[in-house]
Amino acid sequence: MRPLPGSRGTALALLAVGLSAARCLQSQGVSLFVPQPAINATVDEDVLLSVAYSCPGVPTVEWRVTSSWGVHKIVEWEPGSRANVSRSHRDRVCTFDNGSLQLLRVGVRDAGYYVVTVTEHRGGRQLGTVVLRVSELLHEDLHFVAVLLALLAAVAAVLTSLLWICNKCAYKVQSGRHKLQDSTAEEIELQEVEC
Ligand SMILES: *[C@@H]1O[C@H](CO)[C@@H](O)[C@H](O)[C@H]1NC(C)=O
Ligand SMILES: *[C@@H]1O[C@H](CO)[C@@H](O)[C@H](O)[C@H]1NC(C)=O
Ligand SMILES: *[C@@H]1O[C@H](CO)[C@@H](O)[C@H](O)[C@H]1NC(C)=O
Repeated sequence: MRPLPGSRGTALALLAVGLSAARCLQSQGVSLFVPQPAINATVDEDVLLSVAYSCPGVPTVEWRVTSSWGVHKIVEWEPGSRANVSRSHRDRVCTFDNGSLQLLRVGVRDAGYYVVTVTEHRGGRQLGTVVLRVSELLHEDLHFVAVLLALLAAVAAVLTSLLWICNKCAYKVQSGRHKLQDSTAEEIELQEVEC
């Protein structure tokens, strides 16, 4: 007999419940909050990979990064004591007691997938992830520069045509005056001749 589609669905649901129960047991009292799971940064910026955990007792916090350069362990520490920073990130990171990690003056090569693991002493743990993108220059900046250049060009064009029109007008007025002066001079001459 073929299994009914309904019973298959129930089995899957049971499996899901079982898995989440196992996850709950595994995480025990640890919970982790990642307010910003995706960050866009520009080169030379300081970036805070912000997290906050809650857990009975003091856990161990560990950050790893997966980038185009492979997987690297960045730092491991127990909040309240000294952090063990890997050589690749020495002097380039700050750690905070809530588990957050700050990357100082990021470069394009810092872009990647950051995973934080909070492990309590009884073995419960929680994972959080932050995806970091690093760009050379924000597209908005380029857009702004393009708009500014277009605006300047328009202003220059308007000024040039205004100047051209003014020049024309001045020329016309001047030549008009010359004609006027010439005709009065002629009149005067004529008058003199008459006298
Ligand atoms: C980051 O940039 C990507 C693509 O440029 C965009 O889709 C995404 O919304 C941006 N995220 C944030 C948080 O600004
Ligand atoms: C963690 O601590 C840092 C430094 O005090 C703070 O800037 C950040 O907002 C905190 N993160 C969360 C999620 O509370
Ligand atoms: C720091 O980390 C390195 C490599 O992960 C390890 O070999 C070393 O024992 C650690 N030092 C301390 C004080 O935990």
